[in-house]
Amino acid sequence: MEDTTKLNVSKLGTKQYWDDFYSLERQNFKENSEDTGECWFNDNDAEQKMIDFLDENIGSYRIAADASMLDLGTGNGHLLFELYENDFHGQMLGVDYSEQSVQFANEIAKSKSLDEKIRFKQADIFQSEWNPGKFDVVLDKGTLDAIALSGIKFDDGKTVVDIYGKIIERILEKDSVFLITSCNFTEEELIKIIETDKLKCWETIKYPVFEFGGVKGSTISSVAFVKTQ
Ligand SMILES: C[S@@+](CC[C@H](N)C(=O)[O-])C[C@H]1O[C@@H](n2cnc3c(N)ncnc32)[C@H](O)[C@@H]1O
Repeated sequence: MEDTTKLNVSKLGTKQYWDDFYSLERQNFKENSEDTGECWFNDNDAEQKMIDFLDENIGSYRIAADASMLDLGTGNGHLLFELYENDFHGQMLGVDYSEQSVQFANEIAKSKSLDEKIRFKQADIFQSEWNPGKFDVVLDKGTLDAIALSGIKFDDGKTVVDIYGKIIERILEKDSVFLITSCNFTEEELIKIIETDKLKCWETIKYPVFEFGGVKGSTISSVAFVKTQ
């Protein structure tokens, strides 16, 4: 049977693409400070659903109003800014391998006077020296989708998708939560990619389901995982 967790390679999987993308968004922001750029999966209300999920689950595992949070592939940092607006005031860090993204997110943070509260740093999460510490909540909105399109393989033949679960496991404490939203992978595929012996599926977020030719599906999936040991 075809392994549907393997996606085609695309320019959306290159750093150059994201540098160009955020360079343009920075330019737009310079011209109009109201324009903080693209909010991925806005049509599905995914960002709000992720925030609502965390809000409704305060007290479960390590989810708390002062939980430390790390946003992987943060882009313009929108998710962290919205979490802050929604009264999550723990230590917040956004990382992205695109320097343009990090500069853009920092410029937005300054404009909101949140540069002391939310930090943004440049990092490629697959670099072996990347070691940001451990967090209560780790977030991914559209980042695995971009990563999967890179086609990058390591010397042992493993792809970036193959090792993603292990990367996440490393930056979580016991009872920390990883919440991911994807438009490329189904819930089942996300579970297959991310679960390890220590990282287990906890909950999924419900989205409207479409039906086509007798097959039911959703265009977007959000799954929460917990580090169990
Ligand atoms: C689809 S965008 C999503 C951006 C943001 N999470 C959002 O929802 O607006 C994917 C992001 O992942 C970042 N990215 C891709 N590969 C990465 C890597 N290896 N390390 C860090 N960031 C990466 C890209 O630069 C881009 O900002």
